[in-house]
Amino acid sequence: MTIAAKTVLVTGANRGIGRALAEEALRRGAKRVYAGTRQPLAHPDSRVTPVTLDVTNAAQIQAAAQQIGSLDILINNAGIALYDDLSDRAALERHLAVNLFGTYGVTQAYLPALTRSRGAIVNNVSLMALAPLPLTPAYSVSKAAAFSLTQSLRALLAGRGVRVHAVLTGPTDTDMNRGFDIPKASPEAVARAIFDGVENEEEDIFPDPMSAAMADGWRGGVAKAFERENAALAQAAAAA
Ligand SMILES: NC(=O)c1ccc[n+]([C@@H]2O[C@H](COP(=O)([O-])OP(=O)(O)OC[C@H]3O[C@@H](n4cnc5c(N)ncnc54)[C@H](OP(=O)(O)O)[C@@H]3O)[C@@H](O)[C@H]2O)c1
Repeated sequence: MTIAAKTVLVTGANRGIGRALAEEALRRGAKRVYAGTRQPLAHPDSRVTPVTLDVTNAAQIQAAAQQIGSLDILINNAGIALYDDLSDRAALERHLAVNLFGTYGVTQAYLPALTRSRGAIVNNVSLMALAPLPLTPAYSVSKAAAFSLTQSLRALLAGRGVRVHAVLTGPTDTDMNRGFDIPKASPEAVARAIFDGVENEEEDIFPDPMSAAMADGWRGGVAKAFERENAALAQAAAAA
């Protein structure tokens, strides 16, 4: 899978990692970049088509899918992260609405187009899918759920020729973690590593120094082996 000449949709494309992904797709020669944003966006490159897309809004998701028509790569990047302590159910629901059901809803809307193109889905999850940071437990729950969604979709869509990538992103220098005084990767470096991972057909992409240090452990570990076993079991059951 190369990015050149491809049609790419990035959600949350107006700032942070999403904006860097849109720019990197252009740099790699994408034919068209659909920039999903909640607010109107103007971009100097004529290959960028702004798309109004709040990922919690079913009508906007449908309208965007009709506007776009054909698509090679869907990048579910839009996300929210708020501090909480699990005492407020509404905070958990808010995170799930964007980070899980937003990803789910957009993916369902583009599945026919991605099946036609034998394309790819790239879900910008988080290292917190693997272990929660209890300063943002609701966020961590939503990312663990989004990762599980990604793993199941990978198995379920393999037969249709659609690749499904999880990005286990670590700390990146964006508005999202402005308050954390820790080493962070630049959004531009993370965007490059994400597209490198897609081009190299890595199922799970570890796009920054902190996550990259865990890549080998994850890929060779029991949880990954179990994911593969379960996927094979489901495939065998479906074939029988
Ligand atoms: N930064 C990190 O350290 C880090 C680490 C791991 C994973 N991630 C993941 O990377 C992704 C991008 O994060 P970021 O760091 O670039 O964060 P960011 O700078 O806060 O940007 C978040 C983006 O998501 C959009 N968004 C939020 N809610 C939305 C909704 N309901 N519909 C559509 N768009 C929505 C925002 O749009 P508005 O401008 O309209 O709010 C913005 O474009 C997220 O999924 C995040 O969980 C980030």
